[in-house]
Amino acid sequence: MAKILVTGGLGFIGSHTVVELINAGYEPVIVDDLSNSDPKIIDQLVKIIGYKPPFYKLDLCDEQGTKELAVKEPDIVGIIHFAAFKAVGESVQQPMKYYRNNFYSLLNILNAYDGKPVNFVFSSSCTVYGQPDNLPVTESAPVKTAESPYGNTKQIAEEMLMDMQKAGSSYKVISLRYFNPVGAHPTALIGELPIGVPQNLFPFITQTAIGKREKITVFGDDYNTPDGSCIRDYIHVVDLAKAHVAALKLMETETFKGYDVFNIGTGKGSSVLEVIHAFEQSTGEKLNYQIGPRRGGDIEQVWGDVTKSKKVLKWKTELDLDTMMQSAWDWEKYIAQNPL
Ligand code: UD1
Repeated sequence: MAKILVTGGLGFIGSHTVVELINAGYEPVIVDDLSNSDPKIIDQLVKIIGYKPPFYKLDLCDEQGTKELAVKEPDIVGIIHFAAFKAVGESVQQPMKYYRNNFYSLLNILNAYDGKPVNFVFSSSCTVYGQPDNLPVTESAPVKTAESPYGNTKQIAEEMLMDMQKAGSSYKVISLRYFNPVGAHPTALIGELPIGVPQNLFPFITQTAIGKREKITVFGDDYNTPDGSCIRDYIHVVDLAKAHVAALKLMETETFKGYDVFNIGTGKGSSVLEVIHAFEQSTGEKLNYQIGPRRGGDIEQVWGDVTKSKKVLKWKTELDLDTMMQSAWDWEKYIAQNPL
């Protein structure tokens, strides 16, 4: 079986991707420094997949440790690189923490397997587009000045990978530009585990519904959108996980050369208020919410054109907003009853 290194494999997207890799016949090897994930996620994975995948606790900023990993795991044919910091607001407060972590880890893992024919999937983000001039946004839209150091790490990393590829690297590379990943595994055994007060919309909704938070604030209802709240392209994390399998499969073909980039979304935008009402409808839970001021740095609206992903990556989403809501809610209830 083809061995795939999953960095950040115990995180939200990483853990779901580990499951999908196994479903597709790959052998995942997990690396995680546990800085934003819980070691017990490995036990949750065992409940889903029936065995314990190899796991290395390692900070990829540790150059020597990363080189040793490559010695211990020499027959890796693919790397899916999730390990990175991702909180937009924190990156504005502590930019060097973001540049240091997101670049050292990427450089160290690339150096560790340099010279080997490895297929590399990079976790990028729709944040590279800023507020696009045209919607839905296509992969060829101009990349705008990043809104945050976090966004800048994604833009620079994409450019770096492209340059590396052009110069004749042994790696093939695909950057996946995620829109807004939400939801949880249908077993409700893994899901998003925010540390402290959630920054993102979905965990804030589910924690409010379960009573951990008193109310949710809608950050602005005076945007130039039909109901005044911001619009995003929410994508079920299981669909997103499957996009990584599709990316590996594409790079395994003879015809794929070098580097490519894909939008990973549903192609449909939903406003914050639509999401709140959809949650109430699909779960039957009433949400205590209020309208508040805009959040600094938010863009008004973005959703992706996924034509290229459908055609070239041969991937598309299958799960709707209702399933995203239900699964996120099932996970919140599970974790309330079975704290890790
Ligand atoms: C941002 C980044 C994304 C990054 C993600 C992870 C952009 C465009 N997107 O997503 O790349 O991967 O963070 O942290 O930079 N909202 C509320 N109330 C809340 C929370 C959120 O109204 O309590 C609203 C926000 O204003 C926004 C929407 O919900 O309009 C989604 O917010 P969030 O879940 O934080 O994701 P993004 O900011 O879109």
